[in-house]
Amino acid sequence: MPVYLDHAATTPVTPAALAAYTGQIARGGNPSSLHAAGQAARRVLEDARESLAASLRAHPTEIVFTSGGTEADNLALKGLYWARRGEDPRRRRILCSSVEHHAVADTVEWLEAHEGAEAVWLPCDRAGVTSMDALRAELEKDPGSVALVALMWANNEVGTVQPVHEAVRLCADHSVPVHSDAVQAFGHLPVDFAGSGLATLAVSGHKLGAPVGVGALVVRRDATLTPLLHGGGQQRGLRSGTLDAAGAAAFAVAAHDAVDRLPEEARRLAGLRDRLLAGIQREVPGAVVSGPPDGRVADSDGIPTRLPGIAHVTFPGCEGDSLLFLLDMAGIATSTGSACTAGVPRPSHVLLAMGRSEEEARGSQRFSLGWNSTDADVDALLRAIGPAVEHARAAGMAGHESRIETASTRGRR
Ligand SMILES: Cc1ncc(COP(=O)(O)O)c(C=O)c1O
Repeated sequence: MPVYLDHAATTPVTPAALAAYTGQIARGGNPSSLHAAGQAARRVLEDARESLAASLRAHPTEIVFTSGGTEADNLALKGLYWARRGEDPRRRRILCSSVEHHAVADTVEWLEAHEGAEAVWLPCDRAGVTSMDALRAELEKDPGSVALVALMWANNEVGTVQPVHEAVRLCADHSVPVHSDAVQAFGHLPVDFAGSGLATLAVSGHKLGAPVGVGALVVRRDATLTPLLHGGGQQRGLRSGTLDAAGAAAFAVAAHDAVDRLPEEARRLAGLRDRLLAGIQREVPGAVVSGPPDGRVADSDGIPTRLPGIAHVTFPGCEGDSLLFLLDMAGIATSTGSACTAGVPRPSHVLLAMGRSEEEARGSQRFSLGWNSTDADVDALLRAIGPAVEHARAAGMAGHESRIETASTRGRR
């Protein structure tokens, strides 16, 4: 039986979400049509919107369904930036953490290259926690020039939870909107949109048991966004396009179930994660665990420091992608955690921002757990990891020098 330890990339669809999806797909209907089939689809969609809003502690009118997390991040960042700059042309600075997913980081870079934005990358500590002193200093330097702030809820590579509430408090003093990418957090940590004070929050279905292709941007009722898509004017004109009732229904069911079971499931996954980490350190002496040590709180709100289901480990002297392939041959699916363009592995910008060297960043592996992970998965990894690391080390850093050169000359953050 293959062992799947890559739930942060995508987690299998839950039986309940699959049933909701196939049920609505079989019925069909365009939620904007006026006939009975259309109105039935509209009811499924609006029920899903209400249910998802309840899971996020938001108002149903604040939910904008999208195709996923990437679209939600794009709509938030471009939409807020254009609207804020439109109101005052001095607002061009985007203050953004250095550990964002590419869906955020590359969008900010695009706004810088094409729309006159100025990106300010906020530093983080060795655990990956973004500096609130740096945020305060950048805000106070010239508050009138800040278009928005972007700070993810929890990081997808190392699992570090960010001080989002503290950031919102700092920004509120200057009436600056904050966007948070909660794609990895939603369903694994409590997410309370109403209580957060955020302007926008991005979530994605396939990270918690819905199919790929549905997500949402939660938009506070008083936030103004310029839409990216123009057409039929659906969803308050913020996101035109025929609505996907089946995807929305599946997302709502998966989110409801994840939030419903969250406390027990978070404890279960954290238990598996800690056993996995302790086992790896036993099997591979010298392996280094990334992220905040347990017991530390990310901010004064007492929020857990790490996602329960993500374990990130650096194996010195080992190429992350060699290890990935060796584990795959042993039937275990993992990830290096970092992006890979056209087959060229690059050291992770997240680990570099956390102060790791390129070599350390390249020897890393992410193991991520989800709703159907079991003790047997952890046991299988612990049996395979020692020999796999040994082989990866023996295969040496062949080709390492040339690859480092390729990666560094690509010059990505
Ligand atoms: C933190 C984070 N943001 C955004 C995304 C993109 O979401 P999607 O795959 O739904 O477009 C991902 C997916 O890996 C993610 O982990």
